[in-house]
Amino acid sequence: QTKVWNVDNLNDGYTSDPDIKEAALWIKQGEAVAFPTETVYGLGADATSDSAVEKIFKAKGRPGDNPLIVHIGSKKQLTDFVAFIPRMAEVLIKEFWPGPLTLIFPKRANVSEKVTAGLGTVAVRMPDHVVARALLKEAELPVAAPSANQSGRPSPTKAQHVYHDLHGRIAGIVDGGPSGFGLESTVVDCTGDIAWILRPGGVTKEQLESVLGEGSVRIESKKQKSHHAPKAPGMKYRHYAPDSPLVLVEDTKSLQQNLQEAKETGRKTVVMAVNEHQAMLEQDTDAFICLGSMNKLEQIAAHLYDNLRQADQWDADIIFCETFPKEGIGEAIMNRLEKASFQS
Ligand code: TXA
Ligand code: MG
Repeated sequence: QTKVWNVDNLNDGYTSDPDIKEAALWIKQGEAVAFPTETVYGLGADATSDSAVEKIFKAKGRPGDNPLIVHIGSKKQLTDFVAFIPRMAEVLIKEFWPGPLTLIFPKRANVSEKVTAGLGTVAVRMPDHVVARALLKEAELPVAAPSANQSGRPSPTKAQHVYHDLHGRIAGIVDGGPSGFGLESTVVDCTGDIAWILRPGGVTKEQLESVLGEGSVRIESKKQKSHHAPKAPGMKYRHYAPDSPLVLVEDTKSLQQNLQEAKETGRKTVVMAVNEHQAMLEQDTDAFICLGSMNKLEQIAAHLYDNLRQADQWDADIIFCETFPKEGIGEAIMNRLEKASFQS
């Protein structure tokens, strides 16, 4: 009973696509509807309605203490529910909106407590995707939207992923083809003296520094948890994870040793690695999933969640995945792999 609208060939000059109109109407009526963005698919509902927002938490099985990102279609909407815009945020908005950057603001009283999980701040982003923009424009509402996956599972980068996780639990899915970047937006708190990256994502630390200046951007790590900067509450949960245990292995040599051991103990394995390492690894594993080329991290990011879902279909005893340098997009890739892995 979940309706799927196919809007794959919607172009930027959209005026009044009937499918978008219907999806927007359903959001206005308080339903939860999934839609593509340039990062991952989101599950959207009216951010001003407690009962609509509750449907998101229920459909996803999401813990109520994990706040949602509010999505807007125009920068003008921001002042409707944000108490003030810090100077650094102004600079970042000018440079990166619309785009994969979520900013934290002191909130106004009219933002639903359900959206912010009782925090004094609200996370906002303006997505850069033809379908998302059309939908937000048509809905004329701030739309709360987490990733449209079952809580804990890899985020959806295709409408099929959403359907698999949530069909029968949500009103509809707008299918706009594969999402773009493939990992979520960067979440930045710049309400203080420096910009804290609470979750690495589509906009890199290097990009942020190029506009804010070197030394003014920091990535919040587990060690800094006690620091004054607030942590993105969602990051404490195990996330993005396949059902089979995922183990990260730093070099191909120890990966080969791990595979030998698994073979001797009769365990079924899946290996996720770059195509440059395929020849040396594939004969020792039950399945090999190619992550892409080690020189094309944006390709690896775009397909990572799909690959994690595919790895799961083998029902393996263990999934081994190789690691990447934590710079540029590698920071977001490694953040998700660590969250998905067995050890973290
Ligand atoms: O790319 C994205 O950001 C996608 C698409 C759909 O826009 N959305 C997304 O939402 O990833 P979600 O709910 O899966 O992740 C939201 C993250 C969580 O880690 C949450 O804890 C954090 O943002 N967050 C939300 N509100 C916050 C706040 N007021 N302060 C700190 N962190 C916040
Ligand atoms: Mg999520």
